[in-house]
Formats: sequence, structure tokens, C-alpha cells
Amino acid sequence: MAASASGRQAWRQLVRNSSCRGSAATPSNLLRQQQQQRQFAFPRHASSFSRHPVTPPPSSLLRQQPLAQRSYSSGSQGGGQNTPPPPRGSKSQIKFWPFLLIIALGSGGYMLLVNRRKDMPRTKPTPAFSPSEVTVLFVLGGPGAGKGTQCARLVRDYHFAHLSAGDLLRAEQDRPGSQYGQLIRDCIKNGEIVPMEVTVALLENAMRDTIARTGTKKFLIDGFPRKMDQALKFEEVVCPARLVLFYDCPEAEMERRLLERGKTSGRADDNAESIRKRFRTFVDTSMPVVHHYEAEGRVVKVDSTPPPDKVYADTQEKLRQALGDKF
Ligand code: C5P
Ligand code: MG
Repeated sequence: MAASASGRQAWRQLVRNSSCRGSAATPSNLLRQQQQQRQFAFPRHASSFSRHPVTPPPSSLLRQQPLAQRSYSSGSQGGGQNTPPPPRGSKSQIKFWPFLLIIALGSGGYMLLVNRRKDMPRTKPTPAFSPSEVTVLFVLGGPGAGKGTQCARLVRDYHFAHLSAGDLLRAEQDRPGSQYGQLIRDCIKNGEIVPMEVTVALLENAMRDTIARTGTKKFLIDGFPRKMDQALKFEEVVCPARLVLFYDCPEAEMERRLLERGKTSGRADDNAESIRKRFRTFVDTSMPVVHHYEAEGRVVKVDSTPPPDKVYADTQEKLRQALGDKF
């Protein structure tokens, strides 16, 4: 009896639910309603086919889905039955404080590391020679400006050791078995600057050698630095220079001298084409070096257009002014 009473109750409930759709809630009516819903729903998703007659899904497909299962799609009320609602007044289960703790600890550690690094002394390479023991004068000027001629006189009168970067490169180029021979040859022919590592290493070796052989610690480094990277590298790893002796001469005069020298020098770059390229390199690459040292107040500039005796007298005078009588 109780079972039939609860059966009747369920049936009444079913009737009440379905009555809002305006038809009697017999099992066959419900099945028809479901079928109609499917028919209307289908063209909504396939609007491009709307002019074609709607084909109802095969009844076998309907049979595959029992009525009780399909009911969850018609509303949310039935679907929520298996999911218990969260207890009233309960808060989210995720705890945030461990994440906050991790972030705080991480940030603190990072700041500690940054501050410790700030206090650490910066490690800069120490130059091979101290400027308080070794005097280096760079000698610059365009090709044919007279650097070599003036250096020879300073060596004679003031016991400088003269190291010409160009001469050292030419010697390395001709040294049997040198791995840089071809590279140097190509650069010199085209008036280009040889990679600074090669030139700086040759100069450092020559300085060590000179000090060991003669004890001289005063150097004229001729034709160097011809590029900013050479300047920075040399002063960083070999020795900071005292000053730059810069011989200033117009291109026309330098060209005349180089062509004259080319008659007997046997140099591969004392010809019209190489001279043009060397001038270009000097203006574009070497003059910025002169300007760099000028801005630091380390340039002694001498006009080298006059004959060598006059240029030498000017050189002596200006070096005396810059370095004192006993330079
Ligand atoms: O100074 P000099 O005229 O003898 O230099 C000849 C050539 O050697 C330069 O044109 C250049 O190719 C190379 N050189 C260089 N770096 C230097 C000096 C010379 O690459 N500091
Ligand atoms: Mg020279």
C-alpha cells in the first residue's frame, strides 16, 4: 500500500511539472515533447541549413538516451542534486598564507643578495705595468705625419724606447709560422686596423722584452692606439698612458711624403690606392681616439707641416710644458 501511495505521489509530481508546458503528462506525451525540443534545437546550431526541412533524429538515437538521463539538460535544479551545497557561512578551502610566506621569504633573500653584491669590491684587471714605474706616451698622427722621424730624435735625446705598432705588425706578418701573418698582410694592404688582441699582445711582449734587456721604462708607442678598442684594452691590461703626442698635418702634405717614401720603402701600403684607404681609416677610426684623449686633457698637439727640425723644437717645448724639464 505504501509503495503504491508513494508511486501515486511521484506520478502527481510528474503531472505538475509537465503541466507548465500545456499538455497532459502521459509518458507518450513526454516522449513527444522531448522529440519536438530536439527538432527545434537542431536548426539553431545549423542556421545555414534553415531553408531545408528539418529531419528529426532517428528514433534509435532517442532510444539510446533514457528519459531520466536527459532530464538534467533541461534545468539546473535537477542537476544539482548530487552536489552538496557548501555549508552556510563556510569560507574557501584554499589557504593563502603559505603562498604569501614563500613570496615574502623569496623577496627578502633576493634583496639580501643584491645588497651584499653592492658592497663587494669590483674586480678590474690590474695593468701589467704600473704607470708610476713605467711611462707610456702614445704617438699619433695620420700616415706620413712624421711620427717615426720625431720618435727617433726623442730616443736619441731622452732615452725613450721606441715601439712602432706598424713595425711590430710587419715583423709578426713575416715571422715564419705566425698564425696571424695573412690576416695582418690583408689588413695592412687595405689600410684596415688589425684586431686589437694581436697588436696589444705584441706591444706588451715588446715592453717586457725591452725592460728585461735594457732596463728602460720610458716608452714611445708609435702609431697606437689607432682605434678606441685598442686604447681601452691597452690601458686596462698593459699600462695607462701618460699622454698622447699628436702630430697634425694636412692630407695633401702627408700624401706627398708617402709617395716620396714609397719610391724606396718597399712597403705594400705606400701606393696611391692604399694611401687613400689609410686616410679614410684615420679620419673615421683614429681621430675619435684623439678626441677621446683631448676630452680628458691628455693630448699634446704639434703641427707637423713644417720641416722636421722645426717640428722637433715644438715637440720638445710642448713636452717640457706638459711633463716638466726632465721628461
Ligand atoms: O703605423 P703604420 O703606418 O706603420 O701602420 C701600418 C698599418 O698597420 C696600418 O695601416 C694598419 O693596417 C696597421 N696598424 C694597425 N694598428 C695599429 C698600427 C698599425 O692595425 N695600431
Ligand atoms: Mg711609422
